[in-house]
Parts: sequence; C-alpha cells; structure tokens
Amino acid sequence: MLDHVPVLLKEVIESLDPQPGQNFVDGTFGGGGHTRAILARLGPAGRLFVFDLDPVSISAARLLGPNVECWQKNFRQLEETIKYVSPHLPIHGVVLDLGISSIQLSDPALGLSFQEKGPLNMRLGRDKGMTAAVIVNTWRENDLAALIRELGEERQAKQIAKAIVNRRHEAPFVFTTDLAEVIACVWRRRGSMQPRLHPATKTFQALRMAVNEELENLRWGVRGAIRILASGGRLAVISFHSLEDRLVKQLFKEASRECICPPSAPRCVCARKPLGRILTKKPVRPSPLEITDNPRARSAKLRVWQKL
Ligand SMILES: C[S@@+](CC[C@H](N)C(=O)[O-])C[C@H]1O[C@@H](n2cnc3c(N)ncnc32)[C@H](O)[C@@H]1O
Repeated sequence: MLDHVPVLLKEVIESLDPQPGQNFVDGTFGGGGHTRAILARLGPAGRLFVFDLDPVSISAARLLGPNVECWQKNFRQLEETIKYVSPHLPIHGVVLDLGISSIQLSDPALGLSFQEKGPLNMRLGRDKGMTAAVIVNTWRENDLAALIRELGEERQAKQIAKAIVNRRHEAPFVFTTDLAEVIACVWRRRGSMQPRLHPATKTFQALRMAVNEELENLRWGVRGAIRILASGGRLAVISFHSLEDRLVKQLFKEASRECICPPSAPRCVCARKPLGRILTKKPVRPSPLEITDNPRARSAKLRVWQKL
C-alpha cells in the first residue's frame, strides 16, 4: 500500500499558523500528513478534532494521542459535532484537503482506480450509500451523459454514456477495469487523440464525486467551518477540481461580502458586516519541485480565509 504525501504542506502550515495550546480541526484526515504537522505545532495542550469518511483512515487517526478526537463522519457534520462535544471551545483553524488519498486510490476494494481491478464501489465510507455500479447500471443515458459532462468536464460524455448503456444491455458492469475498457474503446473508435491522462480519468472522477456528493459536502462543510471558527481563526481548503475551486472561491466571497443590497439600490440598507476576509487573492499552487516529487499535487489549489 502506498503512503499519502501531503500536498502544499508548508503552505498550509504557514497560512494556518497553529500555535501551542490552540484547537484545530482536520476535516479530511486521509494519511494524516497535515494533521501530524498541525499537532506538532499545537503541542500537548492543544486539541485536534479529526474527521474522515473512511473507517480505515480513522482507525489510524485513533493512534495519534490523547489530545486528538476522531470521528468517522462527513465533514459536513463538523459544526454540529464540535458544538455538541465542546460548545464553548474556540476553534483557531480548520483544514479541508479534498478528494481522496493515494492510500484509497491504490485500494482495489474502494474501486477508485481504473488501473486496479475492483468492484465499482467508490464510496469513501466504504459501505454506506449508493455505489458507482448503481449509477452506471441503472441511470438513463441522458442523465449519465450530463453527470460525466458536468462533474467530469469530459468532451466525449455523450459517446461514453451511449457506450455504457450499450454494454450494460449485454451484462451489468461489475469491475472498474470493465468500465475503463469501454471508455478507452470510445476514444479508440472515434480515432480521437488520446488525452494526456487515461481516457477514463474524468468519468471515474465524475462518478466518485456523484457517489460521495462531494460538491454538496464542500458547500456545507465550508459554511459550517466558517461558523465554528473563533475570531481570527483561519480556514484552509485544498481542491483538485475546477468546480470545487470555483465553489470555494464563491463561498469565501459570500462570507467576506459587506453589502448585499441589489446594485439598483441607491444606498446600502442591509448594513451587513463581513464575517471575514480572504487571505489568498489568487489560489496558492504547488511549486514545480513539489509537482516533480509528487505529480498528484499538480492540480492542487489552496485558498485561505480568516474570520474577523
Ligand atoms: C486528499 S485526502 C487527505 C489527505 C491528508 N490531508 C493527508 O495529509 O494525508 C482526502 C481525505 O478526505 C476524506 N474525505 C473526502 N470527503 C470527505 C468528507 N465529506 N468528509 C470526511 N472525509 C472526507 C477522504 O476519505 C480522504 O481520506
């Protein structure tokens, strides 16, 4: 099994600037790279709340020590969870490092990789909710095409959806590699230039995002994190997909806006105060060196927000 190399680690730690005795939340524990670096800064007097959907990831987090509290939960529940266990505790920082870890990608049981033969599962919680097999074997062709186009930003979405529906009439999809082969065939048949990445990359990403409701989780997770932060507290979000990054940017803007009166209003009547300010005017990108060392980092974008 591969280890997960944390992305933009130095940049996350510099921007969150954890101090001894503070309280932090890592909403996406994964392999624990960001958590461990934060914990080292918080010291024994700090507290760290850790979430991950994946039970395997959370079992590893449980070994971290007495000041780390772990939940196998969706980070969209971080606000209610923390308010329930520690209603008055000030939270000084939250990190969300979206997507999946290399450990999950290389685990055939999760069915996230088109290179490893595994069941079409894709549920980060492993056994809760709808699988990718249900989507590819039961959704209507138009709905499949829309999903692959919107979440995968795939140019050949229509052709891929058609090929999936044709193939499932013969036999339902069971394995990741069967689906990957059908998608690769679409590219070969159309004589299209092969994409830089494997032709199944975008479809697999779309399916994973739909199975795990990733954009919805992000919306609720960011809003919850903004509400639980103490004054001066910071939220760092790393995204790997343009739709995610756009959403983070929009949510940060929404929380930093002063006036929400319509542009036609002659003067401000809402008297709204911004909740915080955006610390990264442009997203922070990994250095060329980081990308060479860890190619998985290539599409990462970090945005940071601070509560007033
Ligand atoms: C990119 S990895 C995080 C890596 C981690 N920062 C590290 O340094 O090892 C993303 C992790 O977030 C988890 N995850 C994704 N969406 C989640 C959600 N909505 N709630 C909780 N965990 C989630 C995944 O299961 C995965 O373990």
